[in-house]
Amino acid sequence: MSKANKKLFIKTWGCQMNVYDSRRMADVLRPLGYEEVDGPEDADMIIMNTCHIREKATDKVFSEIGRLREHKKAKEQKGGRMLMAVAGCVAQAEGDFILERAPEIDMVFGPQTYHELPEMVLKASGMIGRPRIVNTDFPPESKFDLLPEENASQGVCAFLSVQEGCDKFCTFCVVPYTRGSEFSRSIKEIMEEAKILIEAGAKEITLLGQNVNAYHGEGLNGGQADLADVIYEISKFPEIERIRYSTSHPRDMDDHLIEAHGEIEKLMPFLHLPVQSGSDKILKSMNRKHGRDLFFEIIEKLRASRKDIVFSSDFIVGFPGETQQDHEDTLDLVRRTNFASAYSFKYSPRPGTPAANMQGLIREDIKSERLQELQALINEQQYAYNQTCLGQILPVLLDRKGHKTGQLMGRSPYNHSVHVTAPDRLLNQIVDIRITHAAPNSLSGEVVLVEDMPEAAE
Ligand code: SAH
Ligand code: SF4
Ligand code: F3S
Repeated sequence: MSKANKKLFIKTWGCQMNVYDSRRMADVLRPLGYEEVDGPEDADMIIMNTCHIREKATDKVFSEIGRLREHKKAKEQKGGRMLMAVAGCVAQAEGDFILERAPEIDMVFGPQTYHELPEMVLKASGMIGRPRIVNTDFPPESKFDLLPEENASQGVCAFLSVQEGCDKFCTFCVVPYTRGSEFSRSIKEIMEEAKILIEAGAKEITLLGQNVNAYHGEGLNGGQADLADVIYEISKFPEIERIRYSTSHPRDMDDHLIEAHGEIEKLMPFLHLPVQSGSDKILKSMNRKHGRDLFFEIIEKLRASRKDIVFSSDFIVGFPGETQQDHEDTLDLVRRTNFASAYSFKYSPRPGTPAANMQGLIREDIKSERLQELQALINEQQYAYNQTCLGQILPVLLDRKGHKTGQLMGRSPYNHSVHVTAPDRLLNQIVDIRITHAAPNSLSGEVVLVEDMPEAAE
């Protein structure tokens, strides 16, 4: 197989799972001579790793194909060849339709087929004709068993996928269709991948899954393990200083996991716990399998377990049948919980999901109004929370350079984005930062006592 350097450009949309998958696709393609590059110019292969969650996300893919087409043409005019592929959740959902609508696309393949990429690439780059490939199977084997051991260096903050797919079937959501049914990797396999990430410099690991706290993989002694077991095992690596997990479902927040928050110092005191709505009626119609009281109960238990824990969430406004009262209930849930941050979206009907056929559609202007009102409340809470950090000293894992020269950026334990003026040698370190400024979306501060740090004495 040719080891000649070929340029691979991957563009990623959607959730962290897609970010992780893009890294793994680069790993699979490296032995075929593909090296990742930062832009599409002159690439030998472009992969668009796509998201189908909302209509807007899907539209973006087709407009991006239009833009990237120009690069393909330019390459062909120079006598070269560029393979263009659509991967991810739009690929899974739209399959053949993408080939019909976009003649320049050579390959369409879903999230469960990435281990078959080398074969697909060899076929698509066939010398005779121009075979086009669609692969949206859910193969019986797990891709995790067949992906190469090497895991492209993700640096100091790494993602590790422990669970994939979803069996919850919330009525608005495409994920159970695009990612397939729930699957958990064994703890042994997870630990092996963690070791590789540590060798590549990881100090923080985020355990990923579409429904990560539904994790139920094989434990080290053969029995069934839960997410808390995975976290306990990962916390034993001395190199790992911080653990996070995403995305969790309130229904799967069991006592073992809640307890882990109190016992494992390395488990960061920030939890993204999507609730979607504060109205029992809407939660039922969304098939979320719990009411608002369970949410409050879990928040309370988690706060009792880990005093300083803060929360973020996801909300959908304008779900079919949502009355003004239902919306008020959501605002009330937000007021009572007090979030450190949260995402909110207008309901977007997705073809093939049960909610797409529901009565009681909400007018676009009402959705916009409700979204604005909810976002204003969330922003207010986030800003107020950020203000409480003024004067505090927070340990920040400085994982990247800032936009300004001499600036580094990182995350606090509570997931704030923190900017600081600091020398490059502090990159990839956890550094105490005194917070001097709190903006609505980020904090900034100054390094505390850097002269006393061993690094500085060298
Ligand atoms: N697994 C996670 C969420 C995955 S999707 C969970 O169980 O909550 C990420 C977020 O997108 C969801 O939390 C939801 O708020 C939003 N979302 C999903 N489908 C949507 C739709 N049809 N319209 C609007 N927002 C949607
Ligand atoms: Fe979608 Fe619901 Fe599954 Fe989350 S739990 S991925 S919202 S079906
Ligand atoms: Fe989007 Fe698929 Fe993730 S639809 S949110 S990329 S699971």
